Amino acid sequence: MSAPLNVVILAAGKGTRMQSDLPKVLHPLAGRPLLGHVLAAADSLSPERICVVYGHGGETLPQVIGRTELAWAKQEPQLGTGHAVQQAVPHLNPDALCLILYGDVPLTRPETLQEMTLIAREGAIALLTVRLANPSGYGRIVRNARGQVERIVEHKDASPEELAIEEVNTGILCLPAGKLAGWLSRLTNENAQGEYYLTDVIGMAAAEGERVIPCHPAAAWEVLGINSRQQLAELERTHQRNLAEALMARGVTLIDPARLDVRGSLECGRDVLIDVNCVCEGRVILGDGVKVGAHCVLKDVEIGAGVEIKPFCHIESARLGARAIIGPYARIRPGTVLDEEVHVGNFVELKNAQVGFNSKINHLSYVGDASVGRKVNIGAGTITCNYDGANKHRTVIEDNAFIGSDTQLVAPVTVGEGATLGAGTTLTRDAPANQLTVSRAKQVSLPGWQRPVKKR
Ligand code: UD1
Ligand code: MG
Repeated sequence: MSAPLNVVILAAGKGTRMQSDLPKVLHPLAGRPLLGHVLAAADSLSPERICVVYGHGGETLPQVIGRTELAWAKQEPQLGTGHAVQQAVPHLNPDALCLILYGDVPLTRPETLQEMTLIAREGAIALLTVRLANPSGYGRIVRNARGQVERIVEHKDASPEELAIEEVNTGILCLPAGKLAGWLSRLTNENAQGEYYLTDVIGMAAAEGERVIPCHPAAAWEVLGINSRQQLAELERTHQRNLAEALMARGVTLIDPARLDVRGSLECGRDVLIDVNCVCEGRVILGDGVKVGAHCVLKDVEIGAGVEIKPFCHIESARLGARAIIGPYARIRPGTVLDEEVHVGNFVELKNAQVGFNSKINHLSYVGDASVGRKVNIGAGTITCNYDGANKHRTVIEDNAFIGSDTQLVAPVTVGEGATLGAGTTLTRDAPANQLTVSRAKQVSLPGWQRPVKKR
């Protein structure tokens, strides 16, 4: 039986350069905390255990991440990366392989980590390294005459010759947990920074004849860490470009791939078109042929085939049936479900409304806590008065009803099938099916009436 995998995520660093009260690893990238990305990569390897090393000020971390099955090890004070991993050792299975990740390096691909675990399973130490034209600040990979990795020297401890080495340590490595614990117990802090360096473990292992095998990421962004808001913003753009390219490769038309933001998952059918400056959050599903106009925000929505969303719509926690036409300037709030071919026009707000086949709400209306039947026409300026100041009530509008403009429906109230409400009606009792109901002061005209004139 092969050894189980344990993952240690280092997340105790202060993140001073973020200039933030929020722990660095909780800053979001693509809508998800940095640590969430790292946990997702770890999860993809089905590890036996995950231990997160967190630090001073990060007490909120376990609560925010909310995963009770994780082990949390507090590192205080922070005496270096080696000291950090030491705090995790009591949580590790000594017979496991240990993969060490950084909580502020969010985009390492599972494939890269998988390759490292395979190398470690064959009895070597897998070390993720990368060549950088400007290696300044990083630990350098020192190889012996035969090209084998011998040790890592930190920038501040390096000789001029060592500083010229372009291959650097990413910090990510995979090795047997039991041996790691032994090497960590022998670390000293006799170096330029007075820290316990995790990197010294590599020198100890090589000296004992262990094989250290360098692995490389497919792209530099896989190993980029976040230390500042600038770096966070840059990596966000890189990630969004990657997501946009993957969407286009799957057949989605993006009018400008640099002007789409996906913060969550976006599934698209065939021949979907997304215009500029759209934001997708949570889980968004777009059916075949969906067109999303410019400047739309879609959050946790499922959009049926052939739907057209015109510019400037905000749609959240809703399901839209096939061939619906929405917007421009529509706001669709949680709990709304539209059947096929519903039309929702400009300045219309829907909340927790279920709207039947081919019904139309085209102008300036609020429809909330309502069930609307099939082929209903709701005129401009219609308002469901769903809230009495204390409780919410439902409005029911049955099939083929016609709601005149500027109508208020004071819920709870029902409009029967085929009923017509005259414009301006304030409906406080149910409207019978197939009749005209109108509440409106009778219109009068006063013959001979004269407009007042200004007194002299
Ligand atoms: C470390 C490596 C260096 C490598 C670089 C890659 C060491 C000694 N050096 O540098 O070889 O090129 O990463 O970015 O390992 N952390 C803790 N507790 C601590 C110190 C750090 O949890 O006491 C965490 C940080 O939150 C961070 C990670 O460890 O996620 C790396 O720390 P950082 O200070 O960024 O790395 P360096 O020490 O500069
Ligand atoms: Mg450091």
